[in-house]
Amino acid sequence: MPVEDIFKPCATAARRTLLLGAGAMGIAVLAGCGGDEPAPGAGGQPGGSSAPAAPSTAGGNPFDDTGSSGGGEPQVPSNALVAAGEVPVGGGVIVKDTVLVIQPAKGTFKAYDAACPHEGAIVDPPFDGNPIIQCPRHNSKFKVADGSRVEGPAPRGLKGIRVEVRGGYVVRA
Ligand code: FES
Repeated sequence: MPVEDIFKPCATAARRTLLLGAGAMGIAVLAGCGGDEPAPGAGGQPGGSSAPAAPSTAGGNPFDDTGSSGGGEPQVPSNALVAAGEVPVGGGVIVKDTVLVIQPAKGTFKAYDAACPHEGAIVDPPFDGNPIIQCPRHNSKFKVADGSRVEGPAPRGLKGIRVEVRGGYVVRA
């Protein structure tokens, strides 16, 4: 085989096809050297019959874990602030950058607007059972029990937010 035939196998095949004439064998060889289109009868189907269609996904994807099948994880309530388990007993957390959620006793939750009434700094969550919420900017203090002001410069207490526990989440009531 000449060197140019090694690098141009289709040219060689075409030449062979011409030698064979216009029979069915020649058409098959030319089809194998075509462009991007699949050859007729691809997939080992004799006589050029089409291959079976791909399996339909109309019945649902068994690997779909988006919860569309009705099973899976419980839904997070739309007004959820935080999972109850993420709020330490005797302490609190700031959620959504604006709400202080505290758990002064196991299973008892309270929430306040975390913006200090003085100049709007976000207050520090209480911890280790401390009954005082403190503002880090000018040290105003508020009661964990009801958010009332203990000492200034804040002119008043923290604004309360009504919450309840639903489905394991602290939610706005
Ligand atoms: S901003 Fe909180 S005490 Fe001033």
